[in-house]
Amino acid sequence: MDIQKRIEELEEALKKELENVKTMNDLQNVKSKFLGKKAEISGFMKHMKDLSNDEKPAFGKKVNEGKQRLSALIEEKREALRKAAIEEKLRQETIDVTLDAPDFTPGGVHILNRIVEEIEDIFVGMGYKIKEGPEIETDEMNFEKLNLPKDHPARDMQDSLYITEELLLRTHTSPVQVRTMLEYGGKKPVKIICPGKVYRRDDDDATHSHQFLQIEGLVVDKNTTMSDLKGTLNTIAKAMFGEEREIRLRPSYFPFTEPSVEVDVTCANCAGEGCNICKQTGYIEILGAGMVNDFVLKESGYDPKIYQGFAFGLGIERVAMLKYGIEDIRHFYTNDLRFNTQFK
Ligand code: DAH
Repeated sequence: MDIQKRIEELEEALKKELENVKTMNDLQNVKSKFLGKKAEISGFMKHMKDLSNDEKPAFGKKVNEGKQRLSALIEEKREALRKAAIEEKLRQETIDVTLDAPDFTPGGVHILNRIVEEIEDIFVGMGYKIKEGPEIETDEMNFEKLNLPKDHPARDMQDSLYITEELLLRTHTSPVQVRTMLEYGGKKPVKIICPGKVYRRDDDDATHSHQFLQIEGLVVDKNTTMSDLKGTLNTIAKAMFGEEREIRLRPSYFPFTEPSVEVDVTCANCAGEGCNICKQTGYIEILGAGMVNDFVLKESGYDPKIYQGFAFGLGIERVAMLKYGIEDIRHFYTNDLRFNTQFK
């Protein structure tokens, strides 16, 4: 038998069969058929015994090379199948970047934060710095240095949440006044606003929330007077509520200011005529203010003979409720998207 020719025939036969191989399984079957124990080529070695010693090496070499070529054909096909499988997988998993995206709704800034930002912008435009203080505050900062000693009846104005005898959740942003004046060391003018969360021991209802937002303002300088306060408040009321708004000051009492005032702005709904929102008064109360009490200046390291100041405190939820006609403060904190998304 011409062994060389037979091997070439086998190669041709294998190539033909490989053309029809589609899977690794098919390939494995073809491999057993051409190279397995029972394959024709595996039987060739049996002929060795019929050959002379001279012929044996050449014969063996031919058979082995033949096996290698068959094997190479199979491995080549295996590689081709593997590549095809990867390509098919990639094809199936391609992402069509030109497809329409499903609708999605980007989030927005909460209405309360937006109002805080708007008010900050107004004040920064007038040269104020923004200061923050801790929400867990000492009794000393929250009350005592603000002229509210222990057992002072005015402490009843602000029901408090105490953590220890000396620590509480701050009931207002006013302690940031004291902290800033102490930081400034009684030497330089102060012109700050302090936005932040405050806490009261209140039962939540339509107009009360145990947590709410305030913005405190403090200006301390030489020759600061009540008319500076009035002018500042007038400017702010107009910037916040509209050019047509007017303010009015009513005498009031806060331990940390003397004199103290409550500030009303003409009702945006009825322009001062009187309606349900302003309870027929034509005015809506928006903040407390006054000239900084000498006691507070002294406790904070400023000499009241040289420095005077004015301060004010504003509730953010109240501003938002007036601006947008919101009737229940709890809406701000229940995170109902139907409410939150109205202000985009
Ligand atoms: N701290 C007061 C409160 O929470 C508000 C206030 C009133 C702040 C008068 C002031 C002020 O700075 O001068 O009720």
